[in-house]
Amino acid sequence: MPRSDLRSLFRSNHQDLTAEEVFADRMDEWGAVARSLAAHAAAIREPGFTVEDFETPRRNVLVFYGVGGIGKSTFSRHLEEHLSSEGPRTAQWTPVPEGVGRLLPVRIDLSRQSGLGFEDILLALRLTAGRLGRPMPAFDLALRRYWDVNHPSEPLDAYLRRHGFLRRFATAVSLPEQVQSVLGDIAQAIALPGTLGALVGQGLRSVVGALRERRQKVEALAGCTRLADLLEADADPDALSYYAHLLAWDLAQLPADRSGTLVVLLDTFEDVGDRSHRELERLIQRVAWLMPNALFVVTGRNRLQWDDERLDGQLDWAGPSAWPQLAPGAIAEPRQHRVGYLSAEDCERYLCRRLTRDRQPLMAADTRHEIVRRSHGLPLYLDLAVMRYLDLYQRTGRQPGVGEFHYDFPALVARTFRDLSASERHVLRTISLFDSFSVDLATAASGLAQDAPALQLVERPFIDTDPAAPWPCHLHDLIREAVRDADATAEDRWSTADWHRAAQRAFDALGAELPPVGEDRRRLLACLTQGLRLARDHALELGWLVDAAYRYVADLIWEPVELPPGPEGSPAAALVTTLGAVARRQRVHRQETVDQLTAVVSGDLLPPSALDLARYYLAECQRDLGRLEESAAGMRQVAAGAGPLAADAARGLVHLARRLGDFPAVQAAVERLDSGSRYHRTLGDLWWTQGSIARACSAYDDACGEAAAESNPGEAALSRACLAFAAAFQDSGRADQQIRLAEQLLKGATIRWAEIQTRIAGLLRDAGADPALPARAAVVEADADASGLTSSVAYTRLAVCFHHAVLGDQPALDAARVRLRACVNGAEFAYLLEISHFLDGSEPPSDLPRATWIDGTMVTAARWSAIAADRKTAIAAR
Ligand SMILES: Nc1ncnc2c1ncn2[C@@H]1O[C@H](COP(=O)(O)OP(=O)(O)OP(=O)(O)O)[C@@H](O)[C@H]1O
Ligand SMILES: [Mg+2]
Repeated sequence: MPRSDLRSLFRSNHQDLTAEEVFADRMDEWGAVARSLAAHAAAIREPGFTVEDFETPRRNVLVFYGVGGIGKSTFSRHLEEHLSSEGPRTAQWTPVPEGVGRLLPVRIDLSRQSGLGFEDILLALRLTAGRLGRPMPAFDLALRRYWDVNHPSEPLDAYLRRHGFLRRFATAVSLPEQVQSVLGDIAQAIALPGTLGALVGQGLRSVVGALRERRQKVEALAGCTRLADLLEADADPDALSYYAHLLAWDLAQLPADRSGTLVVLLDTFEDVGDRSHRELERLIQRVAWLMPNALFVVTGRNRLQWDDERLDGQLDWAGPSAWPQLAPGAIAEPRQHRVGYLSAEDCERYLCRRLTRDRQPLMAADTRHEIVRRSHGLPLYLDLAVMRYLDLYQRTGRQPGVGEFHYDFPALVARTFRDLSASERHVLRTISLFDSFSVDLATAASGLAQDAPALQLVERPFIDTDPAAPWPCHLHDLIREAVRDADATAEDRWSTADWHRAAQRAFDALGAELPPVGEDRRRLLACLTQGLRLARDHALELGWLVDAAYRYVADLIWEPVELPPGPEGSPAAALVTTLGAVARRQRVHRQETVDQLTAVVSGDLLPPSALDLARYYLAECQRDLGRLEESAAGMRQVAAGAGPLAADAARGLVHLARRLGDFPAVQAAVERLDSGSRYHRTLGDLWWTQGSIARACSAYDDACGEAAAESNPGEAALSRACLAFAAAFQDSGRADQQIRLAEQLLKGATIRWAEIQTRIAGLLRDAGADPALPARAAVVEADADASGLTSSVAYTRLAVCFHHAVLGDQPALDAARVRLRACVNGAEFAYLLEISHFLDGSEPPSDLPRATWIDGTMVTAARWSAIAADRKTAIAAR
């Protein structure tokens, strides 16, 4: 029978509303408990097992840890019910495994507000064992002594009656009576005169004496070898914790069919102590160690650290040798588990079932989906959202819309912050500014002198780690959003100015983590994207971002730079648009890039240092689109400055001259360029047009070598594609090899033009030999066109002309030339059409603007016609 959800029912006057408690999933967690129970039952039945073995490593602690609101307490409650013979069962869970014997579950909430002391914990264990209706003489004797010393004025029964939590454990046989009867028995056994009123003075000495001498009548109890020592020890809380051994011993004395296994559920374990004061934790650990026949199920915010040797001294038993299954990597149950987020399906099912009317889900589907999305699988979020839904529903009398759930709950933040220290809260707010971070980054950005708060924070389960990422830590999105957007009620919340200062510190800390030039591209990109977002969202000055942006473009790799939408109108926003557009130009039509960059340049937001970046790439895309005059004007502006792209712009101007067929001017300008990979590449670009394929290949080869020496992967891919292209006119073997190399390099850099250049190399290599070449060319051309790459379209058409010229197919060659002619725009690309006429020795049309060839028209024409003739011969020889 599902239980009603009273909180929901008492929030609404609607009679027809059905609200029921829904407990979702947790199948894996139950599976872990079931396996642990089975393993534990088997272990304590092993022949050598004894509770008087104080040395063997312990395997009786099962841990579930997870963020606030993930459902640990709820799970622990369901577990107690499921394990107790009379409680309601959780429907989706399998029954308790057979053969584990009678279970004695007891759930103890260790939270501060429950106010339980260590005495109460031990009393709860004793009372739970009392359900067996058997005496626990060793424990009771010691308990009696402890009680007489520590509570002389409050009898045990009065205490138990007064105490709400312990009163729950009332059983048929009362504990004080059992204690009294043990005392009576022992007084009789050792023939004390009169009754034993309290276990003090002479009476105590007589009992201890009898035990030590193992007098016949107390033989059984004397078998508990540590009892006499415990009775003699000071009756303080420290000694009390050792009494756990007595209870374990008493339970072990019962015949198997009358005994039971204590399953101690310790919830809210994080409240047991902070990390510097482990007094209570030490006592509780001692109980777990001394009761190896009981199973402890710990639920709390953090992993149990008992496997950490450094805690030796603060705890009695620390390290993996004492607690082998609490160490990371353990696979056998019981061990430590992180409680996970609910899956989207479980969340959806939860919302459908939690509130219904006429057996239909009350919430509209789109509202449910929004809540599920925002919850990121945190049950607490679902619960809060249901309450909000009911409130809105009742206030307005209608279904709340999706928009009402674009909301983060302050309650969530309050819950998350509950067990964090002030400095941990400070660090948590700081790291909510980062997509990912390291301890160093968190400490620096928090402006703290010590790592300790950050180190403690990263161990919390709301922080995920990915050791392979540039910074390994990542705050869970839900907590991140909540801390940033709903941190409105905490006493130490940040003001707007605090957030701004923190953002500036975070930004500066990121800047300090920029890798050295040319190294660690991933980190560069991570700095850049995080820095851009911080600067944009918090209106910071660009600072180190300008340098980082130039470094980003220098490698020509063009990974996407995409940020979630944010405020517009700042220099950082303009830089985000610029880099986004520049990277995306490899994937979209160049016109789109031109539009975006034109807007940036005319928007006048970028400082002069960054403006060149937008101007240069705008000019480059204008050139690709064939808008040569605009392109040249932009290139000239950039080249005239002293920015990092001035040299590229100078080369851009050379490139424009080449498009126009002014080759001597190109040659003269190249000599003025700095050497380096791009110098050689520009030279290669010049020589192939002249039909000097060998010189072109050797220049490109130098470019490849330089790019490798400069560790510039983008430039390497680009030069290699060019080399493949040039080689393909003459040497199909070399072309094959270079195409393969280029393809390999292009896996690491997204350069659309170079990809297409490599494919054109494939066409040139097969010209005259592959009948399907025109069809292949059409595909390449369409792709080039879709990207707005005019030069690639023209080269593809030249390749088709080359094919037909080699075949000597005049009508087809004429048709191909008509198409190539369509690429000619004034003088732009006229030289390509002229080359197509050199190939078959025909006369170019009289109105075609002629190029100026370096070695003159005759020599150049002869070279090109030789290239076509060589290809013919090579094919004929096959
Ligand atoms: N499996 C579940 N199915 C449905 N609702 C759940 C589930 N687990 C938890 N909830 C709901 O989520 C809310 C938070 O759960 P709970 O109090 O158990 O979290 P917790 O992990 O103990 O948090 P804390 O660390 O703050 O103590 C509760 O209101 C509960 O109703
Ligand atoms: Mg809890």
